[in-house]
Amino acid sequence: MRTDTGEIIHLEDYQPTDFVLERVDLTFELDPLETKVEARLIFHRREGVAADRPLVLDGDELKMTGLLLDQEPIAAEDYTETGETLTIRGLPDSAPFEITVTTELSPQTNTKLMGLYRTNDVYCTQCEAEGFRRITFFPDRPDVLAVYTVNIIADKATVPLLLSNGNFLGGAGMGDGRHFAAWFDPHPKPSYLFALVAGDLGVVEDSFTTLSGREVVLKIYVEHGKEPRAAYAMDALKRSMRWDEEVFGREYDLDIFMIVAVSDFNMGAMENKGLNVFNDKYVLADPETATDQDYANIEAIIAHEYFHNWTGNRITCRDWFQLCLKEGLTVYRDHQFSADQRSRAVKRIAEVRHLKAEQFPEDGGPLAHPVRPTRYREINNFYTTTVYEKGSEVTGMIATLLGPDLFKAGMDLYFDRHDGQAVTIEDFIRCFEEASGRDLTQFSLWYHQAGTPLVSASGTYDASRQTFTLQLEQTVPPTPGQSTKQPVHIPLRFALISEDGTITEASSVSGAEVTGDVLHLVERSQSVTFEGIASRPVVSLNRGFSAPINLHFEKSSADRAQIARFETDLFARWQALNDMALDALVAATASVRAGTPVVCDQALIDALMATVSDDALEPAFRAQALALPSESDIAREIGRDNDPDAIFAARREIMTAIATAGRETFAGLFETMRSTEAFSPDAASAGRRALRNSALAYLVLAENAPTRAVEAFSAADNMTDLSQALTILVHRFPDTPEATAALESFQTRFADNALVLDKWFTVQATIPGAATLERVETLMAHPLFNGLNPNRVRALVGTFAFSNPTGFNRADGKGYRFLARQILDIDPRNPQLAARILTSMRSWRSLESGRAEHARAALSEIAAGAKLSPDVSDIVERTLK
Ligand code: PHE
Ligand code: ZN
Repeated sequence: MRTDTGEIIHLEDYQPTDFVLERVDLTFELDPLETKVEARLIFHRREGVAADRPLVLDGDELKMTGLLLDQEPIAAEDYTETGETLTIRGLPDSAPFEITVTTELSPQTNTKLMGLYRTNDVYCTQCEAEGFRRITFFPDRPDVLAVYTVNIIADKATVPLLLSNGNFLGGAGMGDGRHFAAWFDPHPKPSYLFALVAGDLGVVEDSFTTLSGREVVLKIYVEHGKEPRAAYAMDALKRSMRWDEEVFGREYDLDIFMIVAVSDFNMGAMENKGLNVFNDKYVLADPETATDQDYANIEAIIAHEYFHNWTGNRITCRDWFQLCLKEGLTVYRDHQFSADQRSRAVKRIAEVRHLKAEQFPEDGGPLAHPVRPTRYREINNFYTTTVYEKGSEVTGMIATLLGPDLFKAGMDLYFDRHDGQAVTIEDFIRCFEEASGRDLTQFSLWYHQAGTPLVSASGTYDASRQTFTLQLEQTVPPTPGQSTKQPVHIPLRFALISEDGTITEASSVSGAEVTGDVLHLVERSQSVTFEGIASRPVVSLNRGFSAPINLHFEKSSADRAQIARFETDLFARWQALNDMALDALVAATASVRAGTPVVCDQALIDALMATVSDDALEPAFRAQALALPSESDIAREIGRDNDPDAIFAARREIMTAIATAGRETFAGLFETMRSTEAFSPDAASAGRRALRNSALAYLVLAENAPTRAVEAFSAADNMTDLSQALTILVHRFPDTPEATAALESFQTRFADNALVLDKWFTVQATIPGAATLERVETLMAHPLFNGLNPNRVRALVGTFAFSNPTGFNRADGKGYRFLARQILDIDPRNPQLAARILTSMRSWRSLESGRAEHARAALSEIAAGAKLSPDVSDIVERTLK
C-alpha cells in the first residue's frame, strides 16, 4: 500500500536513471475485477553505472503475480517488493536484459481515476503524472522514453473496441469468445503518455491530409447515440491541425488520431500519444445542450491536447518540475489559436479575466509557487493556474520581447534541436537567446520567483519643456519559501494619448529601452522621460496585458474615460472601463460597511453607456464591458478584512444604478440583438447572444420583476439563452414560484443528460446568500447527483465553494464546515478531486476576522482527519501555514 511519508522531492536532486529502457511490450487481459497485465521491459545498464547498482522500479497499490529475468524466475533474495518500489539486484553489467512483470488489477474498484479504471463500463487509463505505476512496476518518470507495443485481449461481445497509442498492427478473434488487438507506437514516449481504451462505443470518422500529403484517419469515440454531438469537436480538431501547420509549421506524425470522450475524468483532457482521452464535457455539444462557453471550451481544449503532440509529446519534460515547459507553452499556443479563430481582443479580455480570477489569488496566497517550482510533495497539486496560465503569459512575454520573427526563430530552433528529447526550461530559454542574441537571464526570473509583481506608476507633465516623465517602481511580494525577490524584466506595452484623443509619439525617450510600443522596466525604480509632448498625455500602460502584473496607477475617471474612448488597443479600452468600475465598486463597498449611501460615479455610467451603444464595436466586446468585476475581483482589490456580504450588496447597488440609468438602452439591445437566423455557434453570433443576455440581466434589475426573465426562459431556443435566463431568474428571485417552476421544467427536460444537469446544479449552488448551503445539502441527496463522478461533484460542491462568495462565506462558518465534511468524504475515494476543491480555501486570510477564524477551524478539522491522502494533506498544510 502507498504510504505518505511526506517526503519532499527537490529539483536539485535530479539524476538520470541507472538503466536505459529500450522497449516495452505490454499485454492486457481485461476483466473488471481481475485484469492481468504482463509487462516485458528491455533495459541496459547506462554506461559508467557501477555493476552493483540495482534496478529500482516504481509501483502504487500493485499486486505482483510474477517476475522474470530473461524468462527465468528471479530468486527471492535478488529482489525486494514494497508495493511502492520493486528493487532487483544482480543484473547484467552491460548486455541488455528483459524483465517480465505480471500484475493483477481491479479497474472496476479504482475510484481514484488514475491508472486503469472503468467509466460507464468502458476501460480507460489515466497515467499523467504518476498513474502508470498503478498498472505495472516501471521507471515511471518523464525522462524515460521508450517504444511501446501493446496487446489487448478482452471479451469480444461486451468489449468490441480495443485501442491504444500509435498505429493499429492487427487483431483477430481468439475462438474462446475473446479477441485481441495489437498497437505499435513508433515514437519513443514517456509512460505518462501511455493510454488504453476498451469498450463498446460509437464513433465519428473523418480524415485530414497533412501539408506533406500524409493521410490521417480521425476518430472521435463517444457513447452510442451521442455521435451527432461530436461534430463540433471534429471540426475544431481539423482546424487545429491546419493551424499548427500554418502557424508553427508542425505536422501530425501517425496514421491515425483518436479522441475518446469519457464521463468520469479528473481533469479536462489528456494528450496521450495518438489517443487523447477527454472529459466528455469538452467533446459533446449541440445547440440544445451546449452554451457558447461550452463551444469555446471544446474548441480550446481540442486544440490544446492536439498541440501537445509537439509541445509535450515529441518534446517532453525531463522531470515534473518542468511541467510548464509543456503546459505553459501549450496554453500559449491554444490561446493564439482561439484568438485567430475568434476575436483577438475579446479572447484576450477573457484570458485576463480568468488569469486574475484564478491565478492572481493563487500567487497572492499560501499556495503560491513559481511557474517552475523547485520542490513538491505531491505533483498532482502542481497542475495549477500558475503553471498553466502564468506559464502561458511568460511565453507570451518572450514573444513580446523578441517580436514575432525572432520568437518564431526561437520556436523553430526548439523543435529542431530537441525533437525526441526530454528537456528543461533552461533548454527552452536558450533557444530564444540563441535565436535573438538577447540575454534572457533577468527575464528567467519569471520562471523562478513566485508572486505577482506590483508596478506603481505616476506621471508628471512639464508644459514648458514639453516633456512627460513616467515614474515606475516594481516590487515582487514575498511568497512561501521566498522572502526576498529580485526585480524582473517587465515588458510594458504603452501608448500616450493626447487631449484630442490621438496617440502621440515622443521625439525621444530616455530612462528606459523602448522598442516599438514596448517599454522595458528592468530596475526596481525607473524614471522615463518622453520629449516633444505637446500637451498633457494620458498614459495607457500594460496594453494587451503585456505583463501579468498588478498595476497601481491612480487616474481620474476622466483620464480613464479618455483611454476607454480613444485607445486603439481594444483590450486597453476594456481595461480602462474595468478599472473605473473597480474603483466605483471598492468605494461602494466602503460605503456599505460604513453605513453611508452608495453613489455611483456618473463618469462610469456615461463611459459604459457610450461603449454599449457604440454599434461600431463588436457585441462580444460590449458584453465584456458590461460584465463588472466579480465579487472576488473586488475582494482581491480590497485585499484584507473582507466582508463578502458588503461586497455583494455594493455590487448589487452599482449594477442597479447602471441598470436604472441605461434601462432604455438595455431594452433596445434586448430587441436588436435578437437572432432571426438558425443557431450558429460562431463567435459573432455568440457575441450577440452575450450582449443580449447582459442587457437582460440589467433590465431585470431595473424592472425589479421576474417577468422578462420568465419570458426569455420560455422563448429560448438554445442552451446559452436558456441557461442565462434561468440564472438571472433564479439568482435574482430565488424561491419565487417563477424560479421554482423554471428549475423544475429544466430538470424534467434534461433529466437524462448529466452534463446539462450539471448546469442545473451549478445555477442553484451559486444563488447568492446564506440559504444556499441548505439547498446544496438537499441537492446532494438528489437521485441525479452522483458523488463518484468528478463533474457532478465540481458542479455542485466545487461551484458552491469557488463561485458563491456570500453562500460559502456565511458569517457563521457553516459553509467552511460543510466543505471540510465533503473533503474528508471525497478524499478516500478520489484524492485528486478532494485536493482540487480544497484549494477554494486559498484566500481565507483576507477575510474579516470572524470568518477567518471559522475558516481556520474548518481547515484544522481537515488537517486532523485520519489517513489523509498526500494530495489533501499537502494542500491543507500549506493553506494553514
Ligand atoms: N496534461 C493534461 C493537459 O493539460 C492535463 C492532465 C493532467 C490530465 C493530469 C490528467 C491528469 O492537457
Ligand atoms: Zn496541457
